[in-house]
Amino acid sequence: FSAFLTDSFGRRHNYLRISLTEKCNLRCQYCMPEEGVKLTPRSQLLSTAEVLTLARLFVQEGVDKIRLTGGEPLIRPDVLDIIAELRKLEGLKTIAVTTNGMNLARTLPKLKDAGLDLINISLDSLVPAKFEFIVRRKGFHKVMEGIDKAIEMGYNPVKVNCVVMRGLNEDELLDFVALTEKKPLEVRFIEYMPFDGNKWNFKKMVSYQEMLDGIRQQWPRLEMVQTGHTDTAKMFKVPGFEGQVGFITSMSEHFCGSCNRLRITADGNLKVCLFGNSEVSLRDILRSGASEEELLQIIGAAVGRKKKQHAGMFNISQMKNRPMILIGTTCQRP
Ligand code: GTP
Ligand code: 5AD
Ligand code: SF4
Repeated sequence: FSAFLTDSFGRRHNYLRISLTEKCNLRCQYCMPEEGVKLTPRSQLLSTAEVLTLARLFVQEGVDKIRLTGGEPLIRPDVLDIIAELRKLEGLKTIAVTTNGMNLARTLPKLKDAGLDLINISLDSLVPAKFEFIVRRKGFHKVMEGIDKAIEMGYNPVKVNCVVMRGLNEDELLDFVALTEKKPLEVRFIEYMPFDGNKWNFKKMVSYQEMLDGIRQQWPRLEMVQTGHTDTAKMFKVPGFEGQVGFITSMSEHFCGSCNRLRITADGNLKVCLFGNSEVSLRDILRSGASEEELLQIIGAAVGRKKKQHAGMFNISQMKNRPMILIGTTCQRP
C-alpha cells in the first residue's frame, strides 16, 4: 500500500470522498445556516477532468472506494460521466454516493448504468411536515420514492442516514426501526455533530447510549451485528426484521483509530479529517502544472500530519471548520 496514503499511526487511507458540488436543493438545519453559504465561483471548483485526474492518482496509490458527496452530488450535470469514467479505473472496487434522495427515483436507472455500486440516502423524519421543517424545503415523498426505487433496483444495502436532534426527531427512532421490519434498509442514527453555522449544542445531541436504551425498551432482543473494521456505524438487528439499524457515534465514541478516509472538497482541498481545519489545495497544485510526483509528495505530507483522533466533542464545537455543506460529508446542496 502506498506510503503517501499511510499516516504516522499506520492508518491506510483506501477510501476517498469527493465532493462534487457545494450546491444543494435542500437546506438541512444541521448542515448549513438558514441564509445558505457563500458559494465558491465556478472557475475555482474542480472541473470534470480535474476530479478524474485526482481520482486516478488516488486509485493508483491504493484507494479502492470512492464516495461522491456534495452538496447534493446528483445535481452536478456531469455526475453520470464522472461515474462512468471512474468505473474504468482498474483497482477501484466501489463507487458510492451519499444523496438527499430528491432526484434519485428519476436518475437511478442512469446511475446504475453508469456503474454506481452503493447508495446512502439522508432522511431525518418520517413525518412530512417535520421533514420540511428540518430540511427547510418540500420533498418528503420524493425521497421515499427514491428509497423504494433503490430497493427495487436491487441496491443492497440501501443505507438511510438520520441525524438525531433532541426536540426535533428523537421521538421518531422507534418508527425508523419499525421501517426496517419489511424493508431491507440499514437505518443509521447519527449523533448530531458541530459544524460552522449549524447551531449545535450539547443538549441537542442525543447520544448512542440513550438511543440504544430507548430502542431496547421496545425491542429487548435487539442484537448486535458484526461490521467491518473501518465501518462508521455500530449495527444491530431486531430478530426477524428484514433490515438493520445502526449508530454513528462520532461524538460519544469516536472511531478515529480505524479511520481510512480522506476527502476532497468541491473547491479541490484535501481534508485528511472531517474535523480538521488544515487543508491543502490540490487544485492549485494541479493548475500550477506540478508533476505527479510533486502532487504525491504534497498529499503524503498532508496525510502524514493527520492527527491521531479528533479534538473531542467540546473542542471541535469551538474550532473553526467549514459548514458541512462545504465539506462534503454529506449530501449537501446549493
Ligand atoms: P459507508 O461508506 O456506507 O460506510 O458510508 P459512511 O457512513 O462513511 O458515509 P455517509 O456519507 O453515509 O456518512 C454518514 C455519516 O458518517 C456522516 O454524517 C458522519 O457522521 C459519518 N462520517 C462519514 N465520514 C466520516 C469521517 O471521516 N469521520 C467521522 N468522524 N465521521 C464520518
Ligand atoms: N451531524 C451529523 N450528521 C450530519 N450530516 C450532515 N450534517 C451533519 C451533522 N451536523 C449527515 C447527513 C448525511 C451524512 C453524510 O452526513 O445527514 O446523510
Ligand atoms: Fe441536507 Fe445534505 Fe443538502 Fe446538507 S447537503 S442541506 S445535509 S441534503
